[in-house]
Amino acid sequence: MQPIAHYQQIIADYFESATISKEPSNLYAPVNYILSLGGKRMRPVLTLMTAEVFDTDCKEALPAAVAVEIFHNFSLVHDDIMDDAPLRRGNQTVHEKWDLNTAILSGDAMLIMAYQYFEQYEPQIFQALAKLFSKTALEVCEGQQWDVDFENRTDVTIPQYLKMIEYKTAVLVGAAMQMGAIVAKTSTQNCKDIYNFGLNLGIAFQLQDDYLDAFGDPETFGKQVGGDIIENKKTYLYLKAKEFATVAQAEQLSDYFTSHPEDSTQKIATVKELFNATGASAATQKAIEEYTLKAFETLETMDIATDKKEALKAFGEKLMKRNV
Ligand code: IPE
Ligand code: IPE
Ligand code: MG
Ligand code: MG
Ligand code: MG
Repeated sequence: MQPIAHYQQIIADYFESATISKEPSNLYAPVNYILSLGGKRMRPVLTLMTAEVFDTDCKEALPAAVAVEIFHNFSLVHDDIMDDAPLRRGNQTVHEKWDLNTAILSGDAMLIMAYQYFEQYEPQIFQALAKLFSKTALEVCEGQQWDVDFENRTDVTIPQYLKMIEYKTAVLVGAAMQMGAIVAKTSTQNCKDIYNFGLNLGIAFQLQDDYLDAFGDPETFGKQVGGDIIENKKTYLYLKAKEFATVAQAEQLSDYFTSHPEDSTQKIATVKELFNATGASAATQKAIEEYTLKAFETLETMDIATDKKEALKAFGEKLMKRNV
């Protein structure tokens, strides 16, 4: 195994060389734009790392890794429309910089481009990758629909929330890793185990994403802080706050999360105070740690060398400490 930075560099080099210079530019310019904004690129890094965990040169997993990252970027472009988000990676979102129709179609194009990367593999690997990818992509759609449906519901439970984030986010992290395992032609058991590692890491990751959405530093976060509060997202923070709240606090939360004030400054400030005062923030931090540890437990059962386990754990620990 190499340090994480090594895999990050491979992905960065690839995307730097992959600018599309085709017409119509209103279709491809947004694709180039969103991909050039980068982001953490954690999913493709995990695909590359997983190939090496199973003793295969990570370069062989590069097309699959790129497919996963392009799919992820497609999902962000459409997610930003659905969430009415103005900022992504510190820059204007695609639908704000261009317009809605452009963002829809450029997103569609990215989804198709992602599939094309699998064509670089021999038929058996191609089939396994495409099958996992289709299943995962459909689950992401299901998760995204739940996420939006929950905005207008007042009866969302923690298990329903956990299922929603598993689908919208965690399955792709699991699949990113399983793709590295598929390319490495490892055993079915290893594929399952590494998927589960990724799945639990992905749940921890989305819990952290929700936390940062409220408590991230606006200077460095790259997204609109408080966006989930504005949109009445039923996050873990919100659900735990409701669970721990006094009658008066619960009423305040319910009022805020069924309203869309023109100016959301007061709403965001008060809700954040409630998240802290009720103990919801602390409970979220605890859950992030628990799901990360759950991922590490899966790793312990696997028959792979210690240095490889350590590399994957280091990745998980880095994610837990992130602030973007
Ligand atoms: C954002 O993903 C969407 C979620 C699933 C939470 P990332 O936080 O990985 O976004 P980038 O790619 O690093 O910008
Ligand atoms: C996005 O979840 C999940 C997908 C893009 C599938 P969020 O809506 O929380 O992601 P951010 O916070 O906008 O990155
Ligand atoms: Mg969003
Ligand atoms: Mg969303
Ligand atoms: Mg979010």
